Amino acid sequence: MLSKATEKAINEQIVNELYSSNAYLSVASYMDSEGLKVLSAFFFRQSAEERDHALKLLHYMLDVGGKVLIGTVPAPMATFKSVEHAVQESLNQEKTVTEQINRLMGLAHKESDYATASFLKWFVDEQVEELSTMHELLLLVQKAGDQNLLLVEDRLLKQGITLSRAHLPGESE
Ligand code: FEO
Repeated sequence: MLSKATEKAINEQIVNELYSSNAYLSVASYMDSEGLKVLSAFFFRQSAEERDHALKLLHYMLDVGGKVLIGTVPAPMATFKSVEHAVQESLNQEKTVTEQINRLMGLAHKESDYATASFLKWFVDEQVEELSTMHELLLLVQKAGDQNLLLVEDRLLKQGITLSRAHLPGESE
């Protein structure tokens, strides 16, 4: 049985994940408009993953009898000064989500809600991976500079291992 506070916090996190999903749609569209199809595909995929995170939280609520209330999702940033700026904002977003998940985990512990804490562990681990992936991408973009972004795309295609989430639509994982 969820406490009212945890129920409210999970509902808020569903909105946070949907916001992340939309933020990545914005970045993916920007990358496409810059002719960077591989980076665009990478961010479309990130967006789909964030939506999956929202659904995972939502289904947990249903499983434990919580009341799902989908709140208003704020509009994400729509314009970017550069590719580096867009990736930096994405990294900032992952840092924000990490703090949100940690707060949620803190609440579950405070309330001795071990079921929720166990469920949230997946999100804690996921954030470690996502922060690392986005940080790696930022370093790559910074190293390449504006003139060599096609090399970044080439690298992403070749090094699907390092940035393992960069699958193009239709590709299997
Ligand atoms: Fe679901 Fe990357 O936060």
